[in-house]
Amino acid sequence: MKASLAQASSAIIQVRDLEKYYSPGVPVLYDLSFAIEPGEVFGIVGHSGAGKSTLLRCFNGLETYQGGSVRVMGREVGTLSEAGIKELRRELGMIFQNFSLMSRKNVFENVAFPLRVWKMPPEAIRERVMELLDMVGLADRAQERIQNLSGGQKQRIGIARAMALNPKILLCDEATSALDPNTTISILELLRDINQRLGITVVVVTHQMEVVKRICHRMLLLDNGRAQALGLAEELFLSPPPSLKRFVEEDFTLIPGGVNIRLVFPREISQQAVITGMVRKLDIDFSIVGGRLDRYRDDVLGFLIINVRHADFDNVVNYLKANHMLWEVLNDGA
Ligand SMILES: Nc1ncnc2c1ncn2[C@@H]1O[C@H](COP(=O)(O)OP(=O)(O)OP(=O)(O)O)[C@@H](O)[C@H]1O
Ligand SMILES: [Mg+2]
Repeated sequence: MKASLAQASSAIIQVRDLEKYYSPGVPVLYDLSFAIEPGEVFGIVGHSGAGKSTLLRCFNGLETYQGGSVRVMGREVGTLSEAGIKELRRELGMIFQNFSLMSRKNVFENVAFPLRVWKMPPEAIRERVMELLDMVGLADRAQERIQNLSGGQKQRIGIARAMALNPKILLCDEATSALDPNTTISILELLRDINQRLGITVVVVTHQMEVVKRICHRMLLLDNGRAQALGLAEELFLSPPPSLKRFVEEDFTLIPGGVNIRLVFPREISQQAVITGMVRKLDIDFSIVGGRLDRYRDDVLGFLIINVRHADFDNVVNYLKANHMLWEVLNDGA
């Protein structure tokens, strides 16, 4: 019954009731169930020690697990033979925070490494490596020594190497954590391009919320090895559940009088039109407490906190409801 259910699932990675212990009685991953769909960019976020890397390593068989199921492309990772794991890893590219490149070898040899392991003929290797270097924009650096590259360039080489065998899934463990903000964005754009153009599923482990906003469709929040939230990235960030609130910096000084209302604008609704419409229609004054706009993949979305008088509150709420706005009262001042 379980097997037929798993086969019916469209998921490329299916995790069910996963339990992982390093020492008995101390679960590192617990009661975890979720699915990653083919073609999505899926974020796994959480504080240091939450279990993100451990979870990622369960996908490619670098870790064992003690309970539940991890099925990657229909294969139960925990029951694979050594040869089965090797075959699986061929279809999983992996990139790391510290790049894990061979510093004594040049760029070409680093990217060629997985191709040599799988004994591709030299001509095919040359062609494939140059194609990969072209994809990451470093074709002119093939003979360069790794130590002469910047962090961003090293990660591009890491991505080229991870893509060498045409993986179905790219696993990224803090791939941008060692990079400055602009370089981070350029690496994220490269990952997004790989996802969109080649349809490769990308799993992004990160503690940087900006990374999730920028490229992830959905995300899983891990805390102490347990799932605290799972859903669309923009929905979770724009209306964060309590478990996510402490990861989201929203430190605005609320106005003590009146009512402070936090407004979220759904994608279809223009912020400007709703606010100017409200002022005109209701003929009210209000103050802006703060707000924030972020780029979520191709959209710029955000929220606005306004302060209205008590006397206007009911009218404002009716207006917001009529305009399909998401809103929340932050505090009800004196
Ligand atoms: N090989 C190991 N042996 C024993 N305990 C381990 C081992 N690897 C990780 N742990 C523990 O498992 C927990 C989860 O670690 P993990 O590295 O998965 O966290 P993480 O979310 O990736 O953290 P970070 O953001 O710091 O990378 C931590 O408490 C860690 O100390
Ligand atoms: Mg980690």
